[in-house]
Amino acid sequence: MKIKKLFLIMACCLPLCVLAACQPKNQTSMNDNNKTLVAYFSATGTTMEAATKLAKVANADLHEIVPETRYTPAGLNWQDKTSRSSVEMADKSSRPAIANKVENIEQYDTIFVGFPIWWYIAPTIVNTFLEQYDLNGKTIVPFFTSGGSEAGETLQYLKPSAPGANFVAPKNLTRMDEAQMKAWLESL
Ligand SMILES: Cc1cc2nc3c(=O)[nH]c(=O)nc-3n(C[C@H](O)[C@H](O)[C@H](O)COP(=O)(O)O)c2cc1C
Repeated sequence: MKIKKLFLIMACCLPLCVLAACQPKNQTSMNDNNKTLVAYFSATGTTMEAATKLAKVANADLHEIVPETRYTPAGLNWQDKTSRSSVEMADKSSRPAIANKVENIEQYDTIFVGFPIWWYIAPTIVNTFLEQYDLNGKTIVPFFTSGGSEAGETLQYLKPSAPGANFVAPKNLTRMDEAQMKAWLESL
């Protein structure tokens, strides 16, 4: 009697198992049909390292945002009110020039944009980057590294530079390993 019951349960479960096996794998916005770009600005290499790791995990193209004039250590001195970064960040409308451009940005549906936090927000060169393109309808995923600050008002200052784009909440990738990045990507 018990064996008969067990057989009945197994017979009922089999079609469900077959059905489950035929279902497409868990789909996220990172599926293979969507081309993804990881673009980043990095003054001292920390964000570059995070971006390189992220591009590998997300199977994305990688693009460095190169300033027309590179930032020098003196220019990055946040304790000096007259340093280049201090002057730029004091004027939110400053748009430091960029030396290069992404080829065929139309091919990307999702664009990760990485940067170091400067004075609690993104460096204004990131606004220059966004304003170089028509990003209407694209998904922008900001990410950053910092000395400890979180995103603060970062999004508020980035959004006007890409009207019509869909922004995701900025993610802190400081010291994040590949497994953690993978988990974050799957949650998007
Ligand atoms: C001009 C300047 C301003 C900064 N402001 C902040 C800040 O407000 N909060 C913070 O946690 N870190 C701040 N930092 C530290 C950087 O965000 C951090 O070192 C970052 O990881 C550097 O990234 P990078 O090597 O890609 O340039 C600042 C650094 C500089 C040069």
